[in-house]
Amino acid sequence: MEHKKLAAFPRDFLWGSASAAYQIEGAYDEDGKGLSVWDNFVRIPGKTFKGTNGDIAVDHYHRYQEDVKLMAEMGMKAYRFSIAWTRIFPNGTGEVNEAGLKFYSDLIDDLLANGIEPLVTIYHWDLPQTLQDAYGGWESRQIIPDFVNYAETLFKAYGDRVKYWVSLNEQNIFTHMGWQIATHPPGKRDPKLFYQVNHHANLANAAVINKFHEMGIEGKIGPSFAYTPQYAIDANPLNVLAAENAEEMMAHFWMDVYVYGEYPIVALNYLKELGIAPTFEPGDAELLKSAKPDFMGLNFYQTATNAWNPIDGGVENKDSYQMNTTGKKGTSQDSGIPGLQKTVKNPFVETTNWDWTIDPVGLRIALRRIASRYRLPVLITENGLGEYDELEDGHVHDDYRIDFLKKHVLAIKEAISDGVDVIGYTTWSYTDLLSWLNGYQKRYGFVYVDQDETMTGSLKRIPKDSYYWYQDVIASNGEDE
Ligand code: BG6
Repeated sequence: MEHKKLAAFPRDFLWGSASAAYQIEGAYDEDGKGLSVWDNFVRIPGKTFKGTNGDIAVDHYHRYQEDVKLMAEMGMKAYRFSIAWTRIFPNGTGEVNEAGLKFYSDLIDDLLANGIEPLVTIYHWDLPQTLQDAYGGWESRQIIPDFVNYAETLFKAYGDRVKYWVSLNEQNIFTHMGWQIATHPPGKRDPKLFYQVNHHANLANAAVINKFHEMGIEGKIGPSFAYTPQYAIDANPLNVLAAENAEEMMAHFWMDVYVYGEYPIVALNYLKELGIAPTFEPGDAELLKSAKPDFMGLNFYQTATNAWNPIDGGVENKDSYQMNTTGKKGTSQDSGIPGLQKTVKNPFVETTNWDWTIDPVGLRIALRRIASRYRLPVLITENGLGEYDELEDGHVHDDYRIDFLKKHVLAIKEAISDGVDVIGYTTWSYTDLLSWLNGYQKRYGFVYVDQDETMTGSLKRIPKDSYYWYQDVIASNGEDE
């Protein structure tokens, strides 16, 4: 494809990869760790793919040195991982668990000794069960001081060594799945509560960002947002309006609050009409406005396409639509909100076996929209391809993943050439890991791990072809994609 003359990646570009505690660590009850809501949710029959859980996961807790060694051999410049709140505070608050603090301290030291920048996610969904039991977790404002206390403990312990912090991972996803469609803990369907929970998360996010800045720590902090750019199926003005509704309700509704401290006008008006807008208490508006993230973390997987959805007789399955968690192409359902929008198939893009669209141009669009609307640097904190991988004679020839990532690296380069300040790219994921709802068969890693739904794998690590491809990309600073 012809394209304009492209700029080079910045010299200090953070080439890396990512993970999350629950999905890799295992050791779910070792060294003083408390239980999280996920440790319990996975035990409810029917909640996860074939009952898979993260009790062992890929055993990173015991094998982190081997994992870091492979990162170093790959030449990785940055590694994004999350901290399990329950390792630091087994009960969410109160007594600190020194063994938990030490685990991440050792990991950080090991990364730095190998020239790898640690990017720490403070919250990647594994809320302490004690806080859920005590006051409903995110359902109460009590979560705000507890979250700040936990984050402050991390800032004090690691702020001398960690320069990049992600406050909340995909607030839009964990609130949606937890309180709108009941597929994540606590498994509820309650539209009003969903918006209130989300409001508490906004306040907690703002309070933690302010705490970080008040402490004068050298470094940057921002949330990671799962942004799915919304398209219209065609130029029919009603379809364009549908796409704008989707962008307003599913993207601006979060990112505007992060950056401007205000909910977008049309979305808030819509929620007020329905009587499900979040309740503000004195001080909320000021708190939201006072916090300024240093970057926008972007988790980009796919784009979505919209058509008009009439208020009478339109598609309405927002709180229970069928997601594809089987890996059988074509088993997901379109969703919609009458009077706003409905999703439709985009004939111009391919999809994965889990029905996620493959759209690298969408990444360029995402980066440009964020840069123009929010005027912040962007750290791409997740992007990758979940697929079946086959081990053949000790190798994984994942040329489909190389093709996917290559096109996305090019899209980043194009966005940088368009003027977007992109500071790094941590793909999802570094090793294979547990997918929350899809078990171990939907693989994302550069490094294959012998683990499957029997959860009795040897846990052997095997670099895939994509590992060596990324090694070259990093060595050439993105010139050899
Ligand atoms: C993001 C999450 O939503 O997407 C990750 O931050 C997750 O934790 C990733 O694993 C891929 O999603 P899935 O459902 O394919 O595992």
